[in-house]
Amino acid sequence: MERRLQQIFFALSFLALALIIAAGWQADTPKWKDYQKNYHALEAQGEPNAVAKATVIATRPEVHQVMLTGLQRVDRCTTCHLGVEDPTMKDAPEPFTYHAGLGPHVPSKFGCTICHGGQGLATDKDNAHGNVQFWQTPLLPKEYIRASCGRCHKEGDVPGVPELTEGKRLFNTQGCRGCHKLNGVGGSIGPDLTEEGAQHRSPEWLAQHFLTPNAVSAGSAMPNFHFTKEQAKALTYYMLSLTSEDMGSYYSSERSIPGPEYGRQLFAEKNCISCHAIGGEGSKTGPDLLGVVKRHSPEWLDEQLVNPELVYPGSAMPAYDLDPNSRKALLAYMAVATPEDAHLLLANQSRTLKPEEIAIEAGKQDFARFGCVGCHGTELQGGVPNPNAQGGEVPSLLHLSDDYTKDEVVAVIKEGRMPPLDNPKGPTPPLYMPSWKNLLSREDINRIVDYLWSKQQQKKADNW
Ligand code: HEC
Ligand code: HEC
Ligand code: HEC
Ligand code: HEC
Ligand code: HEC
Ligand code: HEC
Repeated sequence: MERRLQQIFFALSFLALALIIAAGWQADTPKWKDYQKNYHALEAQGEPNAVAKATVIATRPEVHQVMLTGLQRVDRCTTCHLGVEDPTMKDAPEPFTYHAGLGPHVPSKFGCTICHGGQGLATDKDNAHGNVQFWQTPLLPKEYIRASCGRCHKEGDVPGVPELTEGKRLFNTQGCRGCHKLNGVGGSIGPDLTEEGAQHRSPEWLAQHFLTPNAVSAGSAMPNFHFTKEQAKALTYYMLSLTSEDMGSYYSSERSIPGPEYGRQLFAEKNCISCHAIGGEGSKTGPDLLGVVKRHSPEWLDEQLVNPELVYPGSAMPAYDLDPNSRKALLAYMAVATPEDAHLLLANQSRTLKPEEIAIEAGKQDFARFGCVGCHGTELQGGVPNPNAQGGEVPSLLHLSDDYTKDEVVAVIKEGRMPPLDNPKGPTPPLYMPSWKNLLSREDINRIVDYLWSKQQQKKADNW
């Protein structure tokens, strides 16, 4: 009896399973098969004879997928986007259109979602394009696709994507780090931005937030920087590129494109021209760099940039903290640098700096890079609203020397400070002076204070 029941049970479960499968089959008459049929019909038009046509049309539909172990994803987009690699499909309608401009980013190695977003595994359009609930990264709108280039190309410029360069520059000069952490460095008043591009924020939200933080995030303590639309877009690009994804070695080993343009930018930034000339244009402290790549091997030059001391004992040349790609870029620039270009570099750099000026300049850089400008302003003017703090805003730093000694200022920077409350019963002001002792070395702080003091003196001299 029991055995019989078991048999019935089995038969019934089997039937149920079959029904479920059949139902699934029917409900989901897979759209992708229709796309493939249409695509094969389109392809067949180009075939010369009837037999070839028939063979193409008879191609069995199948899911196309690329396993991207290095990018930790599986993309099936080419199940419908069938013509991406076929230039004859350049005028075909979507989803069959040829994808121009992919360069070395071929679909078999890169898939699609790393640049576009969307849901790689899905085979129906809405799911694949991510236009469904709970999928956090729908396709990026066309004007923001290029933000993804910065997910792999971290250093230097990405050709054709000036927004990334500009966004990063703004991030490093406008003091975002004062309130936000990126890769572990920065303040904690705003959210950590290390994975901002992998979050649920849409490009539109981010751009609007940069134009007026309050419009999308009521009561935000983030200052309105009065960015232009272009600047907001550039910052949005940069934010979208921050995903901290673990890219496989193939993808990350070539992260930057070390070209002469990036090399020139470094050459200017590091002020190499203050000690070197190119074809007579520049300083004579170090050797003339015209043709230097012909005089030495790339390995020798690379070593020279890492450790001048080792190559020339007692070298006057500073050791720079340059990653391998930056060094490659510098070599690429030195290979093409001309006296005319050196002339341009010199014109932008009004004069060579004295050692004490170099310290002040370094302090100014640190003041921007570590985010002090985010709260105190690029001109030390203060003024960011800070409700219920005495004075109602972050103080200006232009009159420090009236109230403090240098050592006292060093102490404030090291230890940080909560502003005294305006109304003792009111809420805590959102902004406070963070403690910097774990982030900045004593030397960094001294240079910042030298910079602050240089501004004080200037102010007094002005008033005189
Ligand atoms: C089921 C078929 C199908 C799949 C799978 C599919 N797409 Fe599409 N895709 C289409 C069609 C059809 C269009 C044409 C526009 C439309 O109908 O929305 C399109 C358009 C696009 C566009 C143009 C912009 C737009 O929204 O119109 C992009 C970009 C795109 N797809 C990317 C992807 C990516 C990335 C994947 C994989 C995650 C993917 N597609 C998977 C069918 C598909
Ligand atoms: C290296 C990054 C990258 C990869 C990988 C990539 N794309 Fe694109 N794709 C772009 C960019 C950038 C554009 C925008 C081109 C432009 O502005 O004209 C674009 C445009 C498109 C468009 C037209 C969008 C529109 O709205 O007109 C479609 C469709 C598309 N890609 C599909 C795909 C599919 C499918 C794959 C995978 C086989 C893929 N892409 C892989 C970067 C990429
Ligand atoms: C998934 C990581 C990744 C993304 C995203 C990506 N790249 Fe690349 N890119 C690479 C790698 C890896 C190479 C080197 C490819 C090779 O040599 O095989 C490369 C090479 C390049 C090159 C050098 C081309 C050449 O001919 O040598 C350029 C230019 C470039 N990428 C621009 C872009 C642009 C523009 C985008 C965005 C539309 C982009 N990349 C998106 C990883 C990426
Ligand atoms: C004075 C402190 C302060 C400064 C300086 C500051 N922010 Fe913010 N930021 C905040 C606070 C607080 C929030 C959270 C409230 C909100 O969403 O506006 C925030 C939110 C954000 C968000 C949204 C994060 C999310 O997904 O919720 C982004 C992106 C952002 N900031 C980027 C920047 C950038 C880029 C800069 C530099 C141009 C910057 N912030 C400067 C305080 C600051
Ligand atoms: C998140 C915003 C924020 C950041 C970032 C920030 N500060 Fe401040 N800072 C403040 C506030 C608020 C005060 C006022 C504290 C008080 O009233 O006691 C202050 C006070 C000061 C003071 C004392 C001014 C005075 O008149 O009492 C100095 C000096 C100072 N900050 C320097 C810096 C330096 C240098 C940095 C970067 C390393 C920095 N701050 C970063 C918010 C900030
Ligand atoms: C403070 C002055 C100074 C600065 C700044 C400087 N250098 Fe030098 N550099 C020297 C001197 C001096 C030498 C000659 C050898 C020595 O004493 O180390 C030299 C040697 C070199 C050499 C080897 C040239 C040869 O023919 O032997 C190269 C290449 C070079 N520098 C590149 C650079 C680059 C690139 C930068 C900027 C990132 C730079 N230098 C910044 C002073 C400087």
